[in-house]
Amino acid sequence: MKGGDVSSISPLVSFVVGAAMATVCVLFFMSASPTRRLADISAFTSASANSSSNQDDNGVADGEATAASRAADVTATPAPAPAPVEAPSPWGDLEEVLRRAATKDRTVIMTQINAAWTRPGSLLDLFFESFRNGEGGVARLLDHLVIVTMDPAAYQGCQAVHRHCYFLRTSNGVDYRSEKMFMSKDYLEMMWGRNRFQQTVLELGYNFLFTDVDVMWFRDPFRHISMAADIAISSDVYMGEPYSLRNFPNGGFLFVRSSAKTIDFYRAWQQGRWRFFGKHEQDVFNLIKHEMAGKLDLAIQFLDTTYISGFCQLSKDLNKICTLHANCCVGLGAKLHDLRGVLDVWRNYTAGTPGERRAGKFQWKLPGICIH
Ligand SMILES: *[C@@H]1O[C@H](CO)[C@@H](O)[C@H](O)[C@H]1NC(C)=O
Ligand SMILES: *[C@@H]1O[C@H](CO)[C@@H](O)[C@H](O)[C@H]1NC(C)=O
Repeated sequence: MKGGDVSSISPLVSFVVGAAMATVCVLFFMSASPTRRLADISAFTSASANSSSNQDDNGVADGEATAASRAADVTATPAPAPAPVEAPSPWGDLEEVLRRAATKDRTVIMTQINAAWTRPGSLLDLFFESFRNGEGGVARLLDHLVIVTMDPAAYQGCQAVHRHCYFLRTSNGVDYRSEKMFMSKDYLEMMWGRNRFQQTVLELGYNFLFTDVDVMWFRDPFRHISMAADIAISSDVYMGEPYSLRNFPNGGFLFVRSSAKTIDFYRAWQQGRWRFFGKHEQDVFNLIKHEMAGKLDLAIQFLDTTYISGFCQLSKDLNKICTLHANCCVGLGAKLHDLRGVLDVWRNYTAGTPGERRAGKFQWKLPGICIH
């Protein structure tokens, strides 16, 4: 019976101890969780960063300022002076990022990513790999690449691998995080946000070459962009005449020279969103291109798919191709599969002798999931 006593007490003890531990855990969770949540939220909803609180969490939001405040933490200065109140800038440190990344003629290359694309082996990796295995010094162009991120995880993923990262927090006072959540229901919202962001870059006086992250860069594409072009855009289907508005554009690879004309064009483009309500920005581009190109005397160059190519109209000439876009391809898995195949062939091509290359020994492995 004694043994029975002990064994009947022991579960009771462990129950009590267990319950107590659970309570402690719950209390700890309750005390930890709300502050963390609040910090998370305030870091991304308030346009002006609040440097006196939430230093832990807004590291993602503003890198350099936070590094400084962390350093201040380490030295543990007593009674820090109240943080100076800064005029809230809707674009944060965008000008600084652009200034650092731009070429002498104020041109930047820009891409925009989300968190899924920054995972190892995902699109951002392939994107970088293409530059690094590219020819004619294309890798040097990475110095001028600004990676625009729209969520904290993507920003961190960018910072781990690249120098010029920008966290796009607000647009017209709107928090981009909520815009991004909205985006998952409404793709249009993000595309129009991207368009508005490009306008801002032009307004700040920078020319840009926007590239989707599923574009492989094998050679410098700038040599195919005419000095006379105000806008140069890649083509899903290229009909043979660079300045013919009959070509089918693809905004996933787009160069725009900053000028009053191009800024006006972007204004009209944004207004087109409401004029042709519910349309994709690319459709609106098609709808306004005739009218606006005439009115503004804009030179819009459509890029030849022999050089600036994509899966829609694939360039088979590896000796000429500069960039290759996984367009006409839906789904991350399909894009990754085909772009990996493309990079495998490209690596073999770059290892080939000049004779083999000229003879066209190296060809894309076809068909893939999208590439054909
Ligand atoms: C900054 O934090 C303080 C205290 O946590 C709070 O009272 C204030 O409203 C915050 N300011 C902003 C702009 O978030
Ligand atoms: C690349 O070259 C190697 C060695 O010749 C070959 O085994 C491989 O199949 C090639 N890969 C592609 C994708 O062509």
